[in-house]
Amino acid sequence: MTMHLGTQFPPHFLWGSATAAAQIEGAAHEDGKEDSIWDAFARVPGAVAGGDSPQVAVDHYHRMPEDVALMKQLGLQSYRFSTSWARVVPGDREVNPAGLDFYSRLVDELLAAGILPWLTLYHWDLPQALEDKGGWANRDTAYRFRDYAEVMHGALGDRVDHWTTFNEPLCSSLIGYAGGEHAPGRQEPAAALAAVHHQHLAHGLATRTLRRRGAQNIGITLNLTNAVPNDPTDPVDLEAARRLDGLWNRMFLEPLLLGEYPKDVLRDVAGLGLSDVVHPGDLDIISAPLDFLGVNHYHDDNVSGYPLPLGAEASLTPTDRPTSSPFVGSEHLTFPSRSLPQTAMGWEVHPAGLHTLLVRLGEQYPTLPPLYVTENGAAYDDVVTGDDSVQGDAAVHDPERGAYIAAHVQAVADAIADGADVRGYFVWSFLDNFEWAWGYNKRFGIVRVDYTSQVRTVKDSGHQFARMIAEHRAAS
Ligand code: NOJ
Repeated sequence: MTMHLGTQFPPHFLWGSATAAAQIEGAAHEDGKEDSIWDAFARVPGAVAGGDSPQVAVDHYHRMPEDVALMKQLGLQSYRFSTSWARVVPGDREVNPAGLDFYSRLVDELLAAGILPWLTLYHWDLPQALEDKGGWANRDTAYRFRDYAEVMHGALGDRVDHWTTFNEPLCSSLIGYAGGEHAPGRQEPAAALAAVHHQHLAHGLATRTLRRRGAQNIGITLNLTNAVPNDPTDPVDLEAARRLDGLWNRMFLEPLLLGEYPKDVLRDVAGLGLSDVVHPGDLDIISAPLDFLGVNHYHDDNVSGYPLPLGAEASLTPTDRPTSSPFVGSEHLTFPSRSLPQTAMGWEVHPAGLHTLLVRLGEQYPTLPPLYVTENGAAYDDVVTGDDSVQGDAAVHDPERGAYIAAHVQAVADAIADGADVRGYFVWSFLDNFEWAWGYNKRFGIVRVDYTSQVRTVKDSGHQFARMIAEHRAAS
């Protein structure tokens, strides 16, 4: 590493790493936890690659103290984790004290290790009991989320002050309810739009509750992209980029920051009933001021083609309908490769995109709160030397992941130099884990996990990240 972190980042810049409950905890049916939609979805044949499930994951539920010790060893200043709603309120209303106790112990362990807890309330794992009542397509789920937020703050609010309501609502609404690739696996465009709105409402209601209870740092994490027209002179590609930017970025940013849905997207989705689910006063609740905006970014989207309007997609016959589309109507949308290097996910490596995004957000939205990069990282097919089932025996030389992280951290530094108010960076992920519909085969961790023995091995990228944090600490 040749970067001079002390001079490129403000002294209080926060360095951390992130995980999510369903991806690491396991113990899917222990101590009162019941099914989340991901437990149920993983039982659907073909839903998750290799038939993998979050049942055991990386057994963090039982190895939490060991994992926190490893975070401390790497010098993490903050740990971004999510709480499992189905562990805390497994059915639909009854609180499970054992579930709360796990998070209380986690928070104590973090604080004792000098690590700031950064809590996310929803990282995609709705209790199945609520999905059975309509899930996010049902307005009542937003009020149940508010109650769950209240329970969590009641249990942890004396020790946790960084509250993120939702992680990447785009995925848990549009991909879960229209694309069908994510739990609950529904392919219902109108339900997907209702889910978008109800998650926004849930965010607003929970924000109000947390604020009333005295929380000082409340935000939300969005996955934001740069929608790049493949041929910027081709009106068809420009239109594709507008739609992608509209549905993936502005549909989430603008209700939160401006208190309105983007007019062009409303036109695109006309006929799918969004206006029926938006009640008077909802947007005031949704646009309550935020203390921070979390940005998850991995790659840009180079886009071409001409997507159908949502309404047109809804009228396709089931055999015409794409079965795995994250974009409603994306059968006419393509993502041409730009001949850039790619990660194991097939995602482009283009660090300049992160710089562009962070600077652009501030220019586009004058009311933008401070930003944190709450996720950035890369999956690669790791090569292990030694025996990773034996503690301390193995090493993982992962120069590509190390280079990816270093280049993106540099892009953040450049964005700060160009005026972006970025206050922290969390690498995804602390541990290898359950990568949703991809199962366990895509590894994002800076710490390797052998899924049979559950032995943890810090990868070279993890050691590198630890050195970056130490360097910044020493210089500031
Ligand atoms: C975003 C999601 O928040 C996280 O759960 C996922 O594992 C990473 N992206 C990588 O795909």
